[in-house]
Amino acid sequence: MSKNFLVVGNWKMNNNVHQASLLVDRLDKHIESHKSVEVVLAPNMLVLQPISVQLNRRKFRLGAQDAYFKDEGAYTGEVSFTMLHDIVHYCIIGHSERRLYFSESLELIRDKVAAAVRNKITPILCIGETHTERVDGETNQVIHDQLTSAIDNLTPDEVADIVIAYEPVWAISTFGGGVAKPDEIERVIKFIRDQIKHLHNEKVAEKVRVLYGGSVDDNTVGGYLSIKGCDGVLVGGASLNYKKFSGIVESAYKISKEESGGKEK
Ligand code: PGA
Repeated sequence: MSKNFLVVGNWKMNNNVHQASLLVDRLDKHIESHKSVEVVLAPNMLVLQPISVQLNRRKFRLGAQDAYFKDEGAYTGEVSFTMLHDIVHYCIIGHSERRLYFSESLELIRDKVAAAVRNKITPILCIGETHTERVDGETNQVIHDQLTSAIDNLTPDEVADIVIAYEPVWAISTFGGGVAKPDEIERVIKFIRDQIKHLHNEKVAEKVRVLYGGSVDDNTVGGYLSIKGCDGVLVGGASLNYKKFSGIVESAYKISKEESGGKEK
């Protein structure tokens, strides 16, 4: 069966307004728009607004990297989903760097997911085990806890529309960049869908998009996108390099085309 892919570039805390504008310009020149590949750029908060004006919306969508769950009020330093509503389609929530460096709890992540949905922004919920948890055989437990707590307040229809990114923490470049084996990723993606099926039903489990993230680049992306159940990739480091990121998008397009029997989608 043919497939549509979602490719998300998480720029993390990189690129000032000027650098971001240059990168967008280069990406625009090197990436062609394909119906079968949705490309999302997630720059830092400061850059979102100017980039939203510059961006070719036929090719790219915008995502935020985080936001606060209250809509407004005395929360110094925070930006709400309500404020982002007109600018972004997506928001990354619960990235392992936020869980580890900023001590984000399961409850906070649950509230952020609900706030995103309330404000019509699609959450890209990141879940994944650390190296220690993996070695201790706790991967399923961690995935179960991070997933079920985060979608606790959502209706089945709302769950069906979110995006889940499986990112084993030990495979993310900043945390060591280990290489996750395709069969292990496939197993966890299936486990994620099984949990959703158990909580809701098979239709919801099939509709929800599940991405893989962790040291994905233009050389490795093909292997990840060929994994059964994988709907796309969340890319960190390689998304800062226009050649690598456009190579990733091109590979996604090729694979989707192959899967649809060579027809343009
Ligand atoms: P990486 O980051 O591609 O640099 O490993 C992925 C992520 O943190 O989302």
